Amino acid sequence: MAVGYASGKVILFGEHAVVYGRPAIAVPVTQVQAQAKVEDAGRGQGITVVARDLGQTYKLSEAAPDDALRPIVVSTLERIGVGLEQDLTITVSSTIPIARGLGSGAAVSTAIVRALLEHFDKWLDSRAISDLVFETEKIHHGTPSGIDNTVIAFEKPVYFVKGGKMEIFWVQRPFLLVIADTGVQSPTKVAVEDVRRAWEREPAKYEELFDDIGTIAEMGRQAIEQGDIEAMGRLMNENQRLLRLLKVSSPELEGLIGVARQGGALGSKLSGAGRGGNMIALVTQETCSRVSMMLRLAGAKDVIVTDVN
Ligand code: PMV
Repeated sequence: MAVGYASGKVILFGEHAVVYGRPAIAVPVTQVQAQAKVEDAGRGQGITVVARDLGQTYKLSEAAPDDALRPIVVSTLERIGVGLEQDLTITVSSTIPIARGLGSGAAVSTAIVRALLEHFDKWLDSRAISDLVFETEKIHHGTPSGIDNTVIAFEKPVYFVKGGKMEIFWVQRPFLLVIADTGVQSPTKVAVEDVRRAWEREPAKYEELFDDIGTIAEMGRQAIEQGDIEAMGRLMNENQRLLRLLKVSSPELEGLIGVARQGGALGSKLSGAGRGGNMIALVTQETCSRVSMMLRLAGAKDVIVTDVN
């Protein structure tokens, strides 16, 4: 039996503007993971998918046209040249909440690629895995920037610009993030389409906002490379102000973001598409438990602490 894993992720700076060519920064979140298991099945069985969390088992050949898993299985088998005539059971499970900005779709796809590679004793580098997953992300999300598949395939903090530019950079001083879930599902596609419509109506205004967010992402990278945690916090707050102007925040997000700052977080913002999903707060060892507790009391559905290094 072959097993593949992939972590979740959060975007620290630059969501939405990254779709318009500005830089963004994302980091892996190893506390949540997707897992895929690949086992041989009896002769003539074909490929069976077991989606544990959804309680579904089905033959890949009979999957619905919009099935979320079929594209990555097919493209991976084609890429490694083993063909689709396989007898396999692929079992997928994940602790990454769906549609909350933690990269669940890209992580499940990455775990499947890794498990298939191991099963067939093949190897692809992180770039090739990221490219395969990106193709599936396009099917599900319309116009993804590619940041999710990149950070998840490389498993390192990344500075990312749409179109392929990607740099892994140095984290001078490890830092702690509290990630809190509003409990509101927010499909990325919807938020991205709304921003696109707004940009089409008022291009000059939105281009300026994207520029400002891009500048924050650049400064955020410098702050991380210099270990300047206070500057990072200020930049997160400023990024959140601009995301609010893009109209991708929500009352639930604003509530948790405000509570984190009251609890002593150095900065807090939404992460990912917004409108719901998760917010992140930059904390120290001293403020971590207080901020986490206050977020729970304020109604966060889940709170995760991750160490970025
Ligand atoms: O919600 P997520 O984790 O899929 O993040 C979306 C990030 C956006 O910048 C809004 C879209 C993208 O493709 O980069």
